Amino acid sequence: MILVTGATGNIGSELVKLLVAKGLPVRVISRDEKKVSQLDPGVERVIGDRHDPSIVRKAAQGADKVFMLAMVFDATHQGDRVLVEAAKEAGAGQIVMISSASIQREGNAIGRLHREKEQLVESSGIPWTLLRPGGFMSNSILWWAESIKSQSKVFNPAGNGKTAPISPYDIAAVAAVALTSSGHEGKAYDLTGGELLSTPEQVEIISKVIGKPIECVDIPVDVAAERMIASGVPEALVKSLADLWAEIRKEGSTFQTNEVERLTGQPAQTFETWCREHRSAFV
Ligand SMILES: NC(=O)c1ccc[n+]([C@@H]2O[C@H](COP(=O)([O-])OP(=O)(O)OC[C@H]3O[C@@H](n4cnc5c(N)ncnc54)[C@H](OP(=O)(O)O)[C@@H]3O)[C@@H](O)[C@H]2O)c1
Repeated sequence: MILVTGATGNIGSELVKLLVAKGLPVRVISRDEKKVSQLDPGVERVIGDRHDPSIVRKAAQGADKVFMLAMVFDATHQGDRVLVEAAKEAGAGQIVMISSASIQREGNAIGRLHREKEQLVESSGIPWTLLRPGGFMSNSILWWAESIKSQSKVFNPAGNGKTAPISPYDIAAVAAVALTSSGHEGKAYDLTGGELLSTPEQVEIISKVIGKPIECVDIPVDVAAERMIASGVPEALVKSLADLWAEIRKEGSTFQTNEVERLTGQPAQTFETWCREHRSAFV
């Protein structure tokens, strides 16, 4: 049995579909019965919080493998620690963990948090595989969908700098490979999408997909950061994002890998394909 955390989220929901399609037994842990009801009916479910050791132990019981979504908002690491301990008690044979490419950025708070979580996994004694994706395509829903719908605008602190956003589907596809084939223990994979795109280029693609003009409005990094803090995102996280936007604005990110295609045998999803699949989020 494979325990999937974050199963109702961007990556986890795709991973559950891929594992179910392979006929593998899957159990999920979620706080939200309603969201879980969207998953395949054959999936076992444990309802509760990842910070609760008794819930997590129940979920991990009998798990051969664990897919662990790092809880980036939890700087104490309690939820991640509870999961690693429960996986160990259950005798799990592998943890595949979603970390972040930001661990490569010296002094970056999000990177430091993810590295600490990786160290928890590495020191557990359980064979591990680390997936370190760069920025997700789904951030465009989180950050831009509301202003696209209400004002036909995207407010952009990253200038014309380019990055290679990755589809959560591709991260899930790599996770499925790592969980179901041999040779991935002790490995860390740096994952990105296949295209280097600026924010205005991404906005142009969304505009084409939804058939409506969208204005991409350049705003200073500190203004974008203030807006994000006001929307409830923790300050430390926003500071890391602000550093990243400033860096992208200056020179773009040259960080791009071919790991998705090498590991899955399929080219990484394009931003346009991903947008077409998620069109309803922008209209
Ligand atoms: N966004 C990026 O650009 C980026 C880049 C690199 C790495 N990452 C990593 O990717 C992660 C996000 O992945 P994602 O987009 O797939 O996630 P997501 O869509 O934000 O979903 C979060 C998932 O975590 C679960 N969860 C959160 N708190 C929980 C709790 N206390 N107990 C139980 N479950 C809990 C939620 O389940 P329920 O709500 O159903 O309980 C949900 O399934 C980040 O945390 C970060 O570590 C993100």
